[in-house]
Amino acid sequence: MMISERGAVGTLALRHFGKVTASIRQVFVHDGARRCGVGSSLMRKAHAIAKESRCQTVALTLAEDNRALMPFYERLGYFPAIQYDDGELVLVHRLDGEDQA
Ligand SMILES: CC(C)(COP(=O)(O)OP(=O)(O)OC[C@H]1O[C@@H](n2cnc3c(N)ncnc32)[C@H](O)[C@@H]1OP(=O)(O)O)[C@@H](O)C(=O)NCCC(=O)NCCS
Repeated sequence: MMISERGAVGTLALRHFGKVTASIRQVFVHDGARRCGVGSSLMRKAHAIAKESRCQTVALTLAEDNRALMPFYERLGYFPAIQYDDGELVLVHRLDGEDQA
């Protein structure tokens, strides 16, 4: 969770999914705090924690009706690994060798 002087502005859930992969869910930034870098900061912090835990990849799912958010995830180094029949994508980010992404 990210807290500002106005209270909580963003949340994210990170969990281990097997030994080498972590998963991210519930990325959410308060309406009034969007497009200010909060979501990217939360994601980078999650990457750092996953890396400290020796994870090699981070995965998340993107519903078809959220496809407009692809640029957000692409900027963070995610790429589509699987597409399900319902249009949901599994996006993957490799932590190996990562410094800034
Ligand atoms: C997706 C979300 C977490 C992004 O958080 P944010 O703090 O606004 O994102 P950032 O400010 O770090 O964005 C960084 C860059 O990602 C891209 N980006 C962010 N939101 C975007 C959007 N809605 N559409 C397209 N690109 C987007 C932009 O390139 C942006 O840079 P810019 O503002 O200079 O153009 C936020 O919009 C949100 O909470 N949405 C509702 C919940 C949701 O849909 N969560 C994702 C479920 S998969």
